[in-house]
Amino acid sequence: YQRESFWGTNDGKYLIFNTDPAEIEKLAKEKLSQGGWYYSSCNAGLSWTHLANRQAFYRHRIIPRQLVDTNTRDSATEIFGHRVAAPVGFAPIGINRIYHPTGELSVAKVAQELNLAYCLSSAGSYSIEDVGKANGNGPRFFQLYQSHDDEVCISMLQRAFDSGYDACIVTTDTWSLAWRHNDVFNGNYAFYHEHGAGDLGLQDPVFLKRLAEAGIDPEKNPKEAGAKWIDENIWHGRAHTWEKMKWTMEQWKRISGGRPFCLKGIQSVEDAKRAVEMGIDGIVVSNHAGRQVDGAIASLDALEKIVDAVGDKIYIMYDSGVRSAADVFKALALGAKFVFIGRLWVWGLSIAGEQGVRHVLKSLLAEFDILMEVAGFQSLEQIDRTAIDSLPNSS
Ligand code: FNR
Repeated sequence: YQRESFWGTNDGKYLIFNTDPAEIEKLAKEKLSQGGWYYSSCNAGLSWTHLANRQAFYRHRIIPRQLVDTNTRDSATEIFGHRVAAPVGFAPIGINRIYHPTGELSVAKVAQELNLAYCLSSAGSYSIEDVGKANGNGPRFFQLYQSHDDEVCISMLQRAFDSGYDACIVTTDTWSLAWRHNDVFNGNYAFYHEHGAGDLGLQDPVFLKRLAEAGIDPEKNPKEAGAKWIDENIWHGRAHTWEKMKWTMEQWKRISGGRPFCLKGIQSVEDAKRAVEMGIDGIVVSNHAGRQVDGAIASLDALEKIVDAVGDKIYIMYDSGVRSAADVFKALALGAKFVFIGRLWVWGLSIAGEQGVRHVLKSLLAEFDILMEVAGFQSLEQIDRTAIDSLPNSS
């Protein structure tokens, strides 16, 4: 996905719409129903954390280097033993059928095609198995919204591992959805159920048993069954604790033969240290795109502090607010080893399904390659704190 792959190729095959994220966001808004737009765009509260996420990127500036032999550049990296094309992957996003009928299947397919890491959400609108098939031999991970029903939890982890997802990422910041004005106004849960929010669960053998016990026939009553899945196993509103994470990690390690176990949603240095003490393999420094705690710290500011405290002890990934190659670069320069993107690919999916996802990711990769070229960096190893200048944090 070097610059040549895009240069002069505005032939309608890949460059099917503008590559400017502001334009892409606008196109997605035009394409989606009001409910779809509300779900993808809403943030917690007044969107201050979302804004803080974006502002934090503005505060850090790249320092270009000159006379470097950037005639060959390498953006490939390794994540959890997989060689991938770039340090950029697909963040887990729920209910992809809201955006396009082929949902997760298209996203997973493009991820494999571009050799990028893909992470499936527990709130997916297709089954773990079907998305695994669509992703072929692509590198894929499973994001767990952890049920309090341990048997369901084990069943999901087992299904994920059997379907080739070889890292588990537990999201720790969303036992409940925060107050998101537009989503609440839209009647969020009913809207999600209409779009197959529970469908990942409807294939789970343990959950099917629970449905039978409750006298619900998922064939006759898929909406009620899906609602039960989401309300009881996904956004169930009952927090888990660090003690429980030990159990979850043990289960995953047993099922997967020791594959990586990670936490997503870490923002505090204390929590990052605790993750290190527990022997957790990786953390995703994320504030869920500003959708959970409004008024919270910018995720990029959290990243800087966490890298300073434990950057040499645990694998640190980043997400929240990434919109461009320069944003990816800045997160790497601050010490993230890997960057997940969310809304960017959601917009691509909304505009043009599989082709839209391909367009967004290919253009981001090409932009990153060109950035390395013009900024004077041959390899990811060279992108460190000396590569950026940081304005004082007055945000
Ligand atoms: C999310 N995110 C999310 N995270 C998660 O662990 N499981 C999920 O099901 C979802 N679903 C979801 C839906 C939508 C519409 C959005 C926007 C986000 C959070 C996601 O994984 C990631 O943390 C952020 O999206 C990253 O920020 P950007 O790139 O969207 O700014």
